[in-house]
Amino acid sequence: MCGIVGYTGTENARKILIEGLKILEYRGYDSAGIGLVSETDFQLARVKGRVEGLNEIRINGEFTCGIGHTRWATHGEPSVENAHPHRVGRVTLVHNGIIENYQELKKELEGEGVVFNSQTDTEVACALFDKYYDGSTHPCVAIYKAISRLKGSFAFALMFKGYEGRLFGLRHKSPLLVGKGKTGMHLASDLTALLPYTDTYTLLEEGEVVELRASESIFYSYDGIYDPVWHHSSLSYESCKKGGYDHYMLKEINEQPEAIEKTISPRINGGLPDFSSDGITKELFDGIKCVHIVGCGSAYNVGLIGARLIEEHAKISASAFVASEYRYSPPQNMQGALVIAISQSGETADTLASVRYARLCGCPVISVINARESSIARESSRIIYTHAGPEIAVATTKCFSAQLSIMYLFSIFMGTCKGRLTDATARELTEGMLRCSSTISRRLKGAGELLELSKSLSGASSAFFIGRGLDYFMCLEGALKLKEISYINAQAYQAGELKHGTISLIENGTPVISLMTEKRLFDKTLSNLKETKSRGASTVCFLAKTEKSPQECGDFNIFLKGNSFIESLFDQLVCLQLLSYHVARLRGCDIDKPRNLAKSVTVE
Ligand code: G6P
Repeated sequence: MCGIVGYTGTENARKILIEGLKILEYRGYDSAGIGLVSETDFQLARVKGRVEGLNEIRINGEFTCGIGHTRWATHGEPSVENAHPHRVGRVTLVHNGIIENYQELKKELEGEGVVFNSQTDTEVACALFDKYYDGSTHPCVAIYKAISRLKGSFAFALMFKGYEGRLFGLRHKSPLLVGKGKTGMHLASDLTALLPYTDTYTLLEEGEVVELRASESIFYSYDGIYDPVWHHSSLSYESCKKGGYDHYMLKEINEQPEAIEKTISPRINGGLPDFSSDGITKELFDGIKCVHIVGCGSAYNVGLIGARLIEEHAKISASAFVASEYRYSPPQNMQGALVIAISQSGETADTLASVRYARLCGCPVISVINARESSIARESSRIIYTHAGPEIAVATTKCFSAQLSIMYLFSIFMGTCKGRLTDATARELTEGMLRCSSTISRRLKGAGELLELSKSLSGASSAFFIGRGLDYFMCLEGALKLKEISYINAQAYQAGELKHGTISLIENGTPVISLMTEKRLFDKTLSNLKETKSRGASTVCFLAKTEKSPQECGDFNIFLKGNSFIESLFDQLVCLQLLSYHVARLRGCDIDKPRNLAKSVTVE
């Protein structure tokens, strides 16, 4: 949550900072600000709302050094006073994270005469840096003194009086990258914000501090100065643009065939799943008694499907856990558990904490990650990178698909390694996966019926998704998508559970969307749907191939494409994404940046 940027060089810092913040806006968009400094001048511009608002603020003079922030409010409402940068005495900074002990520090600093102007934990941290910075010693002395007293998670970009033209960066649990550009040095919360200027970057490690000048960088650790390892990103800036689409979400929905293709092709060998290029071989499963999958939001939904697939294909006990629960209430017996962490960003705080817990327990941890070199990736025993490319819309689409394709292949792989699937069955299942990209492409070429359906849904105030088995997990994702971007109160239920309470909510015209790819459970779910129809519901069915006539199914039926279960499941997923997208669009919602949300959740 929150995005931070910094630049010191020879070009217009204001322009560079605002451009970087726009790219990072998916991390939070409650308020934004920049602080600019020169030898003789300092200017602060802060706005409530979107980064765009910074362009309206008049700034006199030319600056080539500064820091910027886009905020997802934690402590203190979204307002100009609470917006970053914060400035106390001789220190100006921006912050991503939470200072957990800020109240006790605030009391101490107030006792020493500091007057605070905001309700934020960040301003307290700023005052603490200022307390230890006396102007005569190097800022690193103050930085190390201050961070020894801070509890929580943080990444800071700081500027110190007396060191005009220089930036300082440090991190603890929250990410911070340093970019080496042609015109100067950059700091950013994430690689995408560096891409307009450079493909050369390094990640700050915990406890390290970087000092940036226009053409040089000095890296400090507790042991002294060191040379970092610079990486070269293969991502292009173009891949982070909308590319002619009205919304990132629509672009990313359309990129799914390619994302799946790129993700699965390096992991299929001779028609069978093969994860040896990720360092995962049969031996890793020796002594494994169960699988725990952890994730948050949509990643958790992928985990639910993945766990069921692992149980089915590998016949080993597998469960999915919401990471924020797993970290504090983990299963009693961790012995013999293989832990799989699923995360697009690789920075979700609860998922990262779960990974740390699992490693402390001695469990092998495999992470399924989209963002290279992210914190979770670096702390896992093995990494399976999804190759979905940058995902900007807050609501995940192509990363979900890429993660799901990995979990599907992984379950087959585990099944073959454990001797629970024959090669012939594994091959047949894999062939289905190989066809998914083209199945989805066909859906994307002609999704007119979904647009029609979305018109009838767009006026609803609530909607129910029902299904059984894997379809129920897909209902959770369908309902999450719809509610997060269209603000319709959408709920998912196991179809068989409706009669135990929820059915009392069905009124005339209430939309009930039934997912029915699980053939063995088709008739059962259909009966449940009929029960809602009898009580006035407006029914929608997503159907795989069936002998039933449309009249016997829903008021509105979507026939899914593909000849295998996995193709129907992916097609269904894409339909649900498109449905949410069109409904949100018809309701005039801010699709890529839904209210109150942020894409990368780096606080608990
Ligand atoms: C946020 C996003 C979701 C995402 C979840 C987990 O809630 O809006 O789309 O599924 O975080 O994020 P991660 O980066 O760990 O996949």
